[in-house]
Amino acid sequence: MLYLARIIVFVTMVNAALHLEYCPLHCECDWTIWRVSCFELELLPVFHPCTTEVWLEGTRLSSIPPEAFSKLVNISHIYISEDTTLRGLDRHSFYNHPRTSHIELRSLKKLAYIHPEAFKDLPHLQYLGILNTGLSSFPVLKYILSVQAEFLLEIVDNTLLEVIPANAFNGLSENDLTIVLNGNGLKRIQPFAFNESRLEEVYLNRNVDLEIVDTLAFSGVIHGPTLLDLSETRVSTLPSMGLGAVEKFQAKNTWGLKKLPPLAAFLHLQRAELTFPSHCCGLTKLKRWRGSHQTFANPYHHYLNTDHFRLPELWPNEGPFYVDLPTEQPEEGFDYALCNDLHAHEKVVTCVPEPDAFNPCEDVMSQGFLRVSVWAVSLLAILANLLVMLVLLTSHRRLSITRFLICHLAFADFCMGVYLLLIASVDLYTRSQYYQHAIAWQTGAGCKLAGTLSIFSCELSVYTLTTITLQRWHTIYFAMSPERKLRLRHAMAAMLCGWLLCLMLALLPLVGVSSYQRVSICLPMDVETAAAQVYVVLVLTFNILAFGVVCACYLHIYCMVHNPRHQSSRHDASMAQRMAVLIFSNFLCVAPISFYGLSALHRPLITISDSKVLLVLFFPLNSCTQPFLYALLTRAFQWDALAMLSRIGLGRQQAQLC
Ligand SMILES: *[C@@H]1O[C@H](CO)[C@@H](O)[C@H](O)[C@H]1NC(C)=O
Ligand SMILES: *[C@@H]1O[C@H](CO)[C@@H](O)[C@H](O)[C@H]1NC(C)=O
Repeated sequence: MLYLARIIVFVTMVNAALHLEYCPLHCECDWTIWRVSCFELELLPVFHPCTTEVWLEGTRLSSIPPEAFSKLVNISHIYISEDTTLRGLDRHSFYNHPRTSHIELRSLKKLAYIHPEAFKDLPHLQYLGILNTGLSSFPVLKYILSVQAEFLLEIVDNTLLEVIPANAFNGLSENDLTIVLNGNGLKRIQPFAFNESRLEEVYLNRNVDLEIVDTLAFSGVIHGPTLLDLSETRVSTLPSMGLGAVEKFQAKNTWGLKKLPPLAAFLHLQRAELTFPSHCCGLTKLKRWRGSHQTFANPYHHYLNTDHFRLPELWPNEGPFYVDLPTEQPEEGFDYALCNDLHAHEKVVTCVPEPDAFNPCEDVMSQGFLRVSVWAVSLLAILANLLVMLVLLTSHRRLSITRFLICHLAFADFCMGVYLLLIASVDLYTRSQYYQHAIAWQTGAGCKLAGTLSIFSCELSVYTLTTITLQRWHTIYFAMSPERKLRLRHAMAAMLCGWLLCLMLALLPLVGVSSYQRVSICLPMDVETAAAQVYVVLVLTFNILAFGVVCACYLHIYCMVHNPRHQSSRHDASMAQRMAVLIFSNFLCVAPISFYGLSALHRPLITISDSKVLLVLFFPLNSCTQPFLYALLTRAFQWDALAMLSRIGLGRQQAQLC
């Protein structure tokens, strides 16, 4: 009743004083600019026909009725916000406003339905904002038919909005569109979503569930977009076509986007803000690509988005590029395109984050000789250690401490070979375009496995070597006291400790203490946190300590065995030689790790590229030499090997000869 009475009052007022300046109840009016602001209304009042701006705030409307504002011939701005009851927009809610330029609907939590023809015939519209509503389907915009030179569409923070359908912006405006779709609940963008639009900038950031931008999403656009923002989304692939006009591309904190589309897709890129440094490597190459394909790329990029031009990825069966230049005005395509491209070419592609010391723009194995040697070294380590393990494990003789330990040593070195083989295969697979695969590899399970293997094998090898040295020293030092003799169970206990220790060291980076994903060769180079620094120092100390122990033991052994009364016997000389080789190869093995550690902790002492040389040539040196030094070249081992051969019937004669 009250509302009815109110309406009657208004109507009488309108009738009585059509040309008087009146202000509806609960409203404030500014007659100098014909603005009416209303608060907490439950029904739309009758506005003065001259009104140009309507602001409704905190209203409790149930719907916007048909042609609600059509009587206001000069209305240009309509803002509706903070309404808690508005559920829908009827047909022709905003219909036939020849002068309306701005419509904003903000914080309408209940707004769930917009009639397909709610927005219709708004030729002067240049801003439409639908923000923070309960909409679950994309509003139909095709009847707006704006003729403004620029149009800004903001559909933001609608958490229930999941899909952008095909032709979503078709008919919205015939000119340049800037589309802001941030913070919605978008999950996918359908093929031809931007069909028939002239796109300027497209923002899709903060759509944290957005996974799929269809390959054909930008198909059918007349032009653009020149800016594309996919920051903080979950997309994992970009459409490979339709990005030709993009000048600025943003994908910050887009952790799923591990791979960029083929470089050819970004014809005009000038600035990129990405998540991973390695992608910037690809974009630097883009500049070179553009340079070398200048003449090739020019003539037809103009037609990129028309039916004349087809990209081979999309129609693989149609053969190579199929370009149909119009015969009437060929210069049109040539001239403009050439100008644009020359301009684009002069500019350097700026890209952040830039590649850093840990992620240089290079392949896993950057130099040719490394590429070859890593295969040789890994295969040698794998085969030699396999042979050692095979012979020792199949031997019929009683398991001695020495053979037990050497078996472990061979296993550790074998793991190192497997690690190198992994790295070598990745290098082979990603050759000359590692930047494309860098993220997938470094954050994937493969790198974790490789890293774990490398640290485990290296540390187990160092540990076992130290144990072997200690055992030798013990045997000689206590040669005269048999009650102090080492038993197999002592060695087993020692090796159990070793395994646990090395496993722990190798697994720590998987649980967040340092990490294997910083560098392409999957070593724990991450020293951002204090825990990671402690970890690296721990590994370093462990290695240096072990090296110290090995050196000390051999020196002592040498002193004990060396007989000062017989000046430099031949036996002494050869033993000293062997020990020198052992210590030296051991040192070479420890050195790269120390270098790594130090460069990770401090300013890089050597670059990653240089340290890869160390990695391939010295790091696995032990793994290759140890099977020879400790097994293959020793008398006892050769005896075992012959015995095995004879058992399988091959070397019967030789065995009998021996
Ligand atoms: C609308 O604006 C035009 C000029 O801007 C003015 O002449 C006309 O009187 C206005 N109409 C109304 C109903 O206020
Ligand atoms: C793209 O828009 C044009 C023109 O409106 C239309 O004819 C065509 O069917 C649309 N394409 C798709 C795939 O919807």
